[in-house]
Amino acid sequence: MHIIPSGQTLGAQANGIDLAHPLSDGDFRSILRALGEHGVLCFPQQMLDTDQLAAFGRRFGELEINVANAYHEPNHPEMMILSNIRKDGKQIGANDAGQGWHTDMSYSHDIALANILHAQHVPMRGGKPLGETQFRNMHAAYEDLPDALKHKLEGRTATHDFAKFWDMMVAKPGSTRKPLTPEQRAKKPPVSQPIFRRHPITGRMVLYANVGYTMSIDGMDPQESGEILDFLFRHQERAEYLYAHHWTVGDVLMWDNIGTMHNAIGDYLPDEPRYMRRVQVMATLDYARLLAQ
Ligand code: OGA
Ligand code: MN
Repeated sequence: MHIIPSGQTLGAQANGIDLAHPLSDGDFRSILRALGEHGVLCFPQQMLDTDQLAAFGRRFGELEINVANAYHEPNHPEMMILSNIRKDGKQIGANDAGQGWHTDMSYSHDIALANILHAQHVPMRGGKPLGETQFRNMHAAYEDLPDALKHKLEGRTATHDFAKFWDMMVAKPGSTRKPLTPEQRAKKPPVSQPIFRRHPITGRMVLYANVGYTMSIDGMDPQESGEILDFLFRHQERAEYLYAHHWTVGDVLMWDNIGTMHNAIGDYLPDEPRYMRRVQVMATLDYARLLAQ
């Protein structure tokens, strides 16, 4: 396997590995390390069936089963379908997933390590792919914060709420999402997360707050909390932290859900099909120990 860094703030391509076969321990560790270092890894031209994609994901941690989502591959409740394709008048996948800056699972007590998408159909127009996925580097965002703010927020937590992103999406023109029912809200109560956390692979601190889910800083006057979060959200959207992945069919894209945040660009039309298979890897292993072996 060869890892070729993009030369930008995030991103690398991993060549010379066929993910359809079980990973050797050496390749497993190289991928983990590269994930920490580059945040977004693309494995091009992969031919994986659903069992093989699930097995690859499972090497890195337990796979989340998204109870809120009706769209998954047959016999694979852990494999979501992200798609705008309709069959027999029905959507076959979630058609607006991730359209807004966020970090997957930050609203959950147990956080995610990585997301893995396998591109089945990529919308194209004029020979160019549409529906890119954008990322921002939260290691760099943390490092560049003013020292006074790092000290002020050290050890503090913020409340994250699944409903914040959902409500934002429902309010978008043309949304087909339904408002959450009180029962659905009750199933995903707000949780507190450290604002800064040590990345389990790199051992470095990251900014773990995102405009998609983060509501308020715990135990702080609401006005001050609002001002600081506004500052953090503007800071983390600085252009130098941005990296965009332009999809090709067959790409397996694995991204770090602790050290990056991401945003899906919905710039394609209903007759320009997009279809991604997706597994969410929860941070259930002791990555530092696995890397030390
Ligand atoms: C996700 C997500 C982005 C995309 O899968 O969590 O935000 O481009 N998807 O499909
Ligand atoms: Mn997402």
